[in-house]
Amino acid sequence: MLAFRPQSAPLRLLTRSVSSKCKIEEIIRVDHAGELGADVIYAGQMAVLGSTSKGPIIKHMWDQEKGHRAKFEELIRKHRVRPTVMTPIWKVAGFALGAGTALLGDKAAMACTVAVETVIVDHYNDQLRELMEDPEANKELLETITRFRDEEQEHHDCGIDHGAEQAPFYKALTEAIKLGCKGAIAISKVI
Ligand SMILES: [Fe+2]
Ligand SMILES: [Fe+2]
Repeated sequence: MLAFRPQSAPLRLLTRSVSSKCKIEEIIRVDHAGELGADVIYAGQMAVLGSTSKGPIIKHMWDQEKGHRAKFEELIRKHRVRPTVMTPIWKVAGFALGAGTALLGDKAAMACTVAVETVIVDHYNDQLRELMEDPEANKELLETITRFRDEEQEHHDCGIDHGAEQAPFYKALTEAIKLGCKGAIAISKVI
């Protein structure tokens, strides 16, 4: 008969470090995908609205997203994390989402920003809670994600300030985009 044998101390340590390594890889992979997605969403918005009065404000957010993406490009190399296989699809889908909502008008573009940034702020807050389990080991990620979370919150607030809620079908539009973002996050974590 098989008896339950408690893990030895070194084995326990090994399983814990392996699982936390997997967790860190998952965090970097999904955030890299998310920031890449954000970069191309704002690129799509700029392609349509770049020369309008909303151009400068969208460009400011886009520039910050490029910085976020660059940091996760650095982290993905540093930690030798495999990027999600969905990368080419997220590039096309993100640009289409940004440009598509911008074609509906600048308020729809802002509604898109509000929806995306709502999901990403929640997502980053969830990750910060997990990373706080070992603040010393996760120092760089904690600092990076805290700063990015604050900037995503600013993007969200900027969308609201620029009329997102007056977009046609605001509720339906934002709920659909939020659902899409949550799906993309779930997929990018695993593959
Ligand atoms: Fe971002
Ligand atoms: Fe953002």
